[in-house]
Amino acid sequence: MANDTLHEEPQALSGDTRDLHRALTSLREELEAIDAYRQRADAASDPQLRAVMLHNRDEEIEHASMLMEWLRRHCSHFDVMMKTYLFTAAPIVEVEKGAATAGPPGPVPTLGIGSMKGN
Ligand SMILES: [Fe+2]
Repeated sequence: MANDTLHEEPQALSGDTRDLHRALTSLREELEAIDAYRQRADAASDPQLRAVMLHNRDEEIEHASMLMEWLRRHCSHFDVMMKTYLFTAAPIVEVEKGAATAGPPGPVPTLGIGSMKGN
């Protein structure tokens, strides 16, 4: 069934919520594929097959990255958290402590999706 991972009846959900579910489900599938290809590469005895598995893993990483960017653009709290945690060399927990003392960057984030449309 197409909606067997929904937690509520589809008609109770907004279009934005259903799109978010599509993106999150797709991201989960891509992350699982990355894990599977990496394991198959480790286990493959043939070097050519190992190379194909690693190539496929990298394609799945591309797909996952595209979905993360969609999430950043369509869910304002993802945008805030990615701007806080990604592309820094600082220890991750230290970033959290710094974010807690500095307060939220910019406008107070909302949990709604769609609020970043047009950005
Ligand atoms: Fe993929």
